[in-house]
Amino acid sequence: MSNSPYLTLNVVELTRETADAITIHLERADRQPVPSQPGQFLTLIVPCGSGKRPERRSYSLSSTPADAPRLSVTVKRVPGGLVSNHLLDTVRVGQTIEAMAPLGNFTTDTNPQAARSLVLIGAGSGITPLMSILKTVLQQEPGSQVLLVYGNRNEETTIFREQLQRLEQQYAGRFQVEHVFSQPKQAAKPSGGMFSRLFGGGTPAPQPAAEHQHTGRLNRTMLLRVLEQRHRAPAAQAEYFMCGPEGMMAEAKAALELLGVPADRIRRESFVASADSAEAAAAQPDGHGTVLADDKDEISARKVTIQYEGTEYVVEVQPNQTMLEAALDQDIDLPYSCQAGLCTACRGKCLTGKVHLDEREGLSDRELQQGYVLMCVGHPLTDDVVIEID
Ligand SMILES: Cc1cc2nc3c(=O)[nH]c(=O)nc-3n(C[C@H](O)[C@H](O)[C@H](O)COP(=O)(O)OP(=O)(O)OC[C@H]3O[C@@H](n4cnc5c(N)ncnc54)[C@H](O)[C@@H]3O)c2cc1C
Ligand code: FES
Repeated sequence: MSNSPYLTLNVVELTRETADAITIHLERADRQPVPSQPGQFLTLIVPCGSGKRPERRSYSLSSTPADAPRLSVTVKRVPGGLVSNHLLDTVRVGQTIEAMAPLGNFTTDTNPQAARSLVLIGAGSGITPLMSILKTVLQQEPGSQVLLVYGNRNEETTIFREQLQRLEQQYAGRFQVEHVFSQPKQAAKPSGGMFSRLFGGGTPAPQPAAEHQHTGRLNRTMLLRVLEQRHRAPAAQAEYFMCGPEGMMAEAKAALELLGVPADRIRRESFVASADSAEAAAAQPDGHGTVLADDKDEISARKVTIQYEGTEYVVEVQPNQTMLEAALDQDIDLPYSCQAGLCTACRGKCLTGKVHLDEREGLSDRELQQGYVLMCVGHPLTDDVVIEID
């Protein structure tokens, strides 16, 4: 297979998940598998809108590597959103879609000998990467247990509801979903027992458990209420993966902090940029090849050298442009997807000079310390910036 980051994929099947969400199943024409990891995302390149370039949007894989050669993404309609509405209204079996190969760090390595407790916390379309992770762990780690706490408005807006029910039956005693409905159609059932069954060392129930349903918002109190039912296994020993609206993830993080869960056991994926993540970049050390964030005043027109696929490009970046925008304007075909500092498709390493980042959500502290930057939210601060794109 070629090393190009681009793929042409055929739409081979569509599944309607809810009134405003569909799963698009994709395959290469030659049916060759495309390497992926659970929790990664595809970048769809969609010619719609009035921009001079096709639109790019990231969609997490809801499929698993075991589904190869099939890659599936699940798209939820965003009111007023350009690409999500275009896809939901026009996508047809048989058409082709351009994409970038799977990317992303919101993933987990599996080990058939592992005996882990995973707690997945999701809401709305945030279920997609969690679905890929949970199916993979259940298939590949017979000793591991998975709890999904899943928030939605009601039963009808719940993506993958039936598939999750089937998985609960198939993996009874190892997998449980706790549904949290803000406006349920049916009365909530009282909760209880599930955590002690899954994590408390008791005998697994021989039959699939009745569905657990809670009424309210998936906030700190709700999550603590669900989690406190775990009697023996300490919260700090589980691994946590969360994906959903920013407010929900902030509440979940606060709940886990109260339970004493170490930060390195909590992983999160953002679909939209948060207001405060740029501040975190200010904590990074100043120095050669590192990142600054509280220095917007120093942004001015500067030249940047970009090393990509064996070629060196010199790009003039205006103060109102990001380094990615400037490169694309010069027809340099750099990789990118979300253009919001979330997905890391545009990641590069700052070899010399200093760069300001408007947003750092996609980069870990370690990556920042190593000098990695995101071209889509990056501005040169010095005249000697050299960026090497992976
Ligand atoms: C790593 C990653 C993975 C993603 N995975 C999925 C996925 O599996 N399924 C999925 O449906 N979407 C996913 N998204 C979001 C997706 O990429 C698009 O942002 C979303 O479809 C909206 O695009 P649009 O063109 O319709 O809206 P736009 O025209 O780009 O935006 C319209 C407005 O909606 C806001 N908005 C954008 N996304 C959301 C959102 N998710 N919820 C609420 N408001 C939003 C924007 O900030 C903007 O104000 C993912 C995003 C990232 C970064
Ligand atoms: S394009 Fe997604 S982080 Fe830059």
